Amino acid sequence: MCGIVGYIGNREAYPILIKGLKRLEYRGYDSAGVALINKAGAMNVYKAKGRVCDLEESVSSKDISGCIGIAHTRWATHGEPCQMNAHPHYSASGNLALIHNGIIENYAALKEKLKRKGYTFKSETDTEVLVQLIDYVRETKKLDLLTAVEIALRSVIGAYAIAVIDKNTPNQIIAARKSSPLVVGIGEGEFFLASDASPIVEYTDKVVYLDDEEIALISQGKELKVVNLHNVVITPEVKTVDLELGQLEKGGYPHFMLKEIFEQPSCLNDCMRGRVNTEANHVILSAIIDHKERLLSARRFIIVACGTSWHAGLIGKHLIESVCRIPVEVEYASEFRYRNPVIGENDVVIAISQSGETADTLAAVELAKRKGAFIYGICNAVGSSIPRNTHTGSYIHVGPEIGVASTKAFTGQVTVLAMLALCLAYEKKTIGEEEYLNLVHELASVPEKMERVLEMDTRIGQLSRIFTYAHNFLYLGRGFNYPVALEGALKLKEISYIHAEGYPAAEMKHGPIALIDAEMPVVVIATRNAMYEKVLSNIQEIKARKGKVIALVTEGDEEISRLADDVIELPRIVECFEPLITTIPLQLLAYHIAVCKGKDVDQPRNLAKSVTVE
Ligand code: G6P
Repeated sequence: MCGIVGYIGNREAYPILIKGLKRLEYRGYDSAGVALINKAGAMNVYKAKGRVCDLEESVSSKDISGCIGIAHTRWATHGEPCQMNAHPHYSASGNLALIHNGIIENYAALKEKLKRKGYTFKSETDTEVLVQLIDYVRETKKLDLLTAVEIALRSVIGAYAIAVIDKNTPNQIIAARKSSPLVVGIGEGEFFLASDASPIVEYTDKVVYLDDEEIALISQGKELKVVNLHNVVITPEVKTVDLELGQLEKGGYPHFMLKEIFEQPSCLNDCMRGRVNTEANHVILSAIIDHKERLLSARRFIIVACGTSWHAGLIGKHLIESVCRIPVEVEYASEFRYRNPVIGENDVVIAISQSGETADTLAAVELAKRKGAFIYGICNAVGSSIPRNTHTGSYIHVGPEIGVASTKAFTGQVTVLAMLALCLAYEKKTIGEEEYLNLVHELASVPEKMERVLEMDTRIGQLSRIFTYAHNFLYLGRGFNYPVALEGALKLKEISYIHAEGYPAAEMKHGPIALIDAEMPVVVIATRNAMYEKVLSNIQEIKARKGKVIALVTEGDEEISRLADDVIELPRIVECFEPLITTIPLQLLAYHIAVCKGKDVDQPRNLAKSVTVE
């Protein structure tokens, strides 16, 4: 949440900063701002409510020159989204400008202290307190900026990724992180700074990921210097980023979300490459093989995650329990971290996160680690905090996901969970050779079957027009498809703002059935599996109450086609991998309904990706 960009070098900073902010808009988009120091040594700070394009418009006649600058796109925590609360914030002296991603938890106490020293505040933010604190430390002790930042941060409780500039030292940026990501890009005679590598890859592939409580002194014409909060010098580890620019563009699609939905077959091929062999008769996840004893001797697995990743976790539970016979619990990371869970050395915790930065999931990982559990991460963003804090794990390798509503990361997570389950089942011999071979073969067939589902895009687009009127939707599924019902409902809520509930189909009669009338669309996942007859009865119950049924069925199904108002026919696949197929039409349905309603699907209101605050 909140995106940070910085630049220092020989080029004009503004275009680089704006382009960078646009790449980071998925992290928040309720206001944006930029601070630049021009050649004459003046610091210009511009802010605007709304998107980065609103900021661009507002500065059209302003001085935007300067080769050093910092910029920010905000997801509001403290204080409403308005120009005053937008970053950068500057010190009372007008010398310092600061941008921040995170939350300063003790900001109220610090603010009181500073007020007593005569400081006044213009905004409601915790960030303004931080910049005034740095200013206070520096002025009272007559320190250089780096030392003042070190001392100020020692008294701060909370999470931060910050960048500070001082108009009196226009050749340096000071940046620091704790629990919020920050990357320094190293170019030829220039440096870049950002919340992730996406604003940087266009200019350089050499990056340094800062660690918690590290401060970077980024000076023009000098080597990058990294210290900790106690001024101990740390040698930065320069890494090479493997990210292509094309992955960050819409590539001809009207929205990132649609691009990412359509990328799924190729993403899953990437996810399985080198793991499912070309003959599709064996699965190897190196993390499983490397930690076989620890995993096989586990008393139970606990999956922790948030949002869509939690839905993937529910499918993972079902998969692991059915083929590996290991008990699995699935927890919201935000609940797990605060309830003193019973967990110990015999437990394995699987943390699932697309961004690898979700604050609650990271905190759950840290808690479980302290209690001695073995931690396995399933993440997408390479080098992010969760993979760096786990004992082992598997990347999903689906490439950057930019649309705020998660799509390809979900199917990537389910695919890794499927491979994990198969790999463990093989080692544990909990399934027979024939079943194993069949499952590996079925998993390998998913990308091609997904392609066939994607061919239905136009038809789903037409279907969606009928449903733009709806105020409520119900999604029903059973077994492996119950989490898919939850995920389908979440997708619709997130981007079209239509209220939607996902339910296990049999639970409908314990409440949601009261909502059904002729106005109520009910999406039912009714594929030909062990639950088919049961779900068929549920559809009868809905039709008896005049509900509108949109059914996902297996190709050739006639029975449900006669009953339902609309059917979407899907290729047959073994039941445990059905979620990888049944999810696709629900993603497309949500997408098209939101587009028909004129909503901004890539940047839905109030949401952000990479939730680095609690
Ligand atoms: C936010 C995003 C969701 C995501 C969830 C968990 O709510 O909008 O798409 O599922 O965070 O994020 P993670 O990066 O941990 O998977």
